[in-house]
Amino acid sequence: MLCLRHCFRAIRAGQLHLYPCGPILLCSFILYAFLTKASNDVYLNETALRLSYGGITNWAHFTTPADVRAECTDGIPLRIAYFTRHTGTLWDWIAVAAHLHVPWTRVNPGLFIEYGINASAAARVWRDVGHVMCHMADILIFSDTIPDARPLLQGGCQTPIVLQVTNRFDYGVLPSDLLDYVALLSDVAQRPHVWWVSNNPYEEEYMVRRGVKLPPAERRMMLRPVGTCLLPDAPRPSGGGSARALSAAEAATRVALILPPYSRHLENTYIMPWLLRHGLTAHVQVYRQHYGGPAVLARHRGVITVPYQTSVMKMYEGLAAGAVFVIPSPELFGALVRKLDMHRMSFCCRELLRDHPDDWPQFMDWYHPDFVSAHVLYDNLKDLKRFLTDHTWSSQLVSEKRRIGTAAMADSRERTLDGFGRLLRAVSQQVCAATSPEQLRARGAVFRAERSLPLFTATSSSSSSSAAAASDDGVSPVRTVLAAGAEGPGRGGGGGIGGGRA
Ligand SMILES: *[C@@H]1O[C@H](CO)[C@@H](O)[C@H](O)[C@H]1NC(C)=O
Ligand SMILES: *[C@@H]1O[C@H](CO)[C@@H](O)[C@H](O)[C@H]1NC(C)=O
Repeated sequence: MLCLRHCFRAIRAGQLHLYPCGPILLCSFILYAFLTKASNDVYLNETALRLSYGGITNWAHFTTPADVRAECTDGIPLRIAYFTRHTGTLWDWIAVAAHLHVPWTRVNPGLFIEYGINASAAARVWRDVGHVMCHMADILIFSDTIPDARPLLQGGCQTPIVLQVTNRFDYGVLPSDLLDYVALLSDVAQRPHVWWVSNNPYEEEYMVRRGVKLPPAERRMMLRPVGTCLLPDAPRPSGGGSARALSAAEAATRVALILPPYSRHLENTYIMPWLLRHGLTAHVQVYRQHYGGPAVLARHRGVITVPYQTSVMKMYEGLAAGAVFVIPSPELFGALVRKLDMHRMSFCCRELLRDHPDDWPQFMDWYHPDFVSAHVLYDNLKDLKRFLTDHTWSSQLVSEKRRIGTAAMADSRERTLDGFGRLLRAVSQQVCAATSPEQLRARGAVFRAERSLPLFTATSSSSSSSAAAASDDGVSPVRTVLAAGAEGPGRGGGGGIGGGRA
C-alpha cells in the first residue's frame, strides 16, 4: 500500500518519467499477488466436498445442523430456538437472553402442534417438520407445555434440548396416553443431550410422583422466572361500569381484587360475596382478567389473591414490580383446601397437601420460605377485614412488605440469571464437543425415509429413537452424541466456549 501511494504521488507530481521503474514493478507484482489470492479464495475444493458428502445417498431427507466450529473456537454464543406458546414465559426468556447476550429466535408450537400431542400425531410432526425444528438452532429450549417437544424427543433429534418445565410436564396428555408419555420422558432423562429446568419447586416432585425417572442432578436445575412483564402500562379497571383509570392516589387507597374468569375460584365463590355482604367494596378495586399487569397491581394497597396454582407468573412479575399480595396464611390455606372441594375452591395440586402434610410449603412458591415473608397473610376473615378497613396500618404494612418482596425477587432473579449462564455454558460445551464433519453428518439426516411412521412405544423407547434417527451412512447418531457427552466437561466447568461468554 505504501508503495502504491508512492506511485500515485509520483504520477500526481508529474514525475513519473523521473521515477525509477523498480518500485512500479514491485507495485504491479503485489497487486497481481493480491488478485490471485482473491481468486484462490473462490476456488471450490470439490475433492474435499466429496470426501464429506460423497457417502450420502438419500438427499431427499438430508438436512444438517449448522457447523459452529468457528463460534466454538472464538467463544461466540450459540443460537437458541425458544419454543413456547405462553407470552409470560416468552417475556421471561427475552429478559434472560438479553442479559446473557445470546442470539435466539422464538417458535410458537401452538400454531402447528395440538396440546398434549399423542404419539402418532407427534410422529407425523416429526416426519413433516422435524428436521426444521431440530436444526433451526444449535440449542433448543422447550417451555410452557413439554409435550410440544414430543415430536423431537420421540423422533430422536440429536440437537441439545432444554426442557423448561413451567407447568405440569404432562399438560394436555390424555390419561390413556400417560404411560407411554412417562416412559418416553424416563428414557429421555438418560440422554446426555437433554437438560431439564423446572421453574418452581413443585415440578420435579410432580414428575417423580407420575413415575418419571429424572436425569442426574448435573442435567437438572430449578430456575425460577425473573418476573419480566412487557405489557404496556395501561390500566383497565372494570366492575361498576365506569372504565376510567384510577388516579395513583385513589389506587393507593384501594386493595386490588382480580376476579378470575372461572367461577370456581374462591375469589368468585366466597370473597366477592363476602365483600358485598359486609359492605367492604369501597375499599376494593375489582379487576377482571385483563387488569393491565403488575405495574397496575403495584399501585394498590395490596392485591387479594387466593393461590390456585403452586406458582404463577403473576406472583414473580408482581413481586418484581412492587405488588404486595394478600393471601391466606399457610394454616388457613391448608384448612380451606381440606374443607372445600374443587367446585368451591379451584386448586391444581390437592395431592401435594395430602402427600406432604407438613412440608408442602417447600414445594409451593407462594408459601416457599424464599417468598412467604413478602406477602400479607391473614388467618381468618376478621384479619382480612381489619386489613381492608384500617388504611393507615395496612398501608404501612404494605410498604414494608413491598421492600421485602422486591429484595426477595432481586435475589431470586440473580440466582436464575446465574443459573441460565451456567446451563448455557454447559450445553454449549456439549455442542462444541461434537462438531467434526462426521458428527454433524451423523446428526444430519433426522429420520429415515420409512414407509411407516416411526411410532414410539413404551417398551422399545431407546431403540425406536435410535432407529428413527439413524442416518443414511449407518453411523449411529446416538452413539456419537453419547461419546460427545461423555467427553464434554461437566456443568459449570470453565474454559471452552464458556470462558468467552457473559
Ligand atoms: C482439497 O481437499 C483435499 C482433501 O481435504 C486436500 O487433500 C487437497 O489438498 C485440497 N486441495 C487444495 C487445492 O486445497
Ligand atoms: C392422536 O391424535 C390425533 C389428532 O388429534 C387423533 O386423530 C388420533 O386419533 C390420536 N391417536 C390416538 C391413538 O389416540
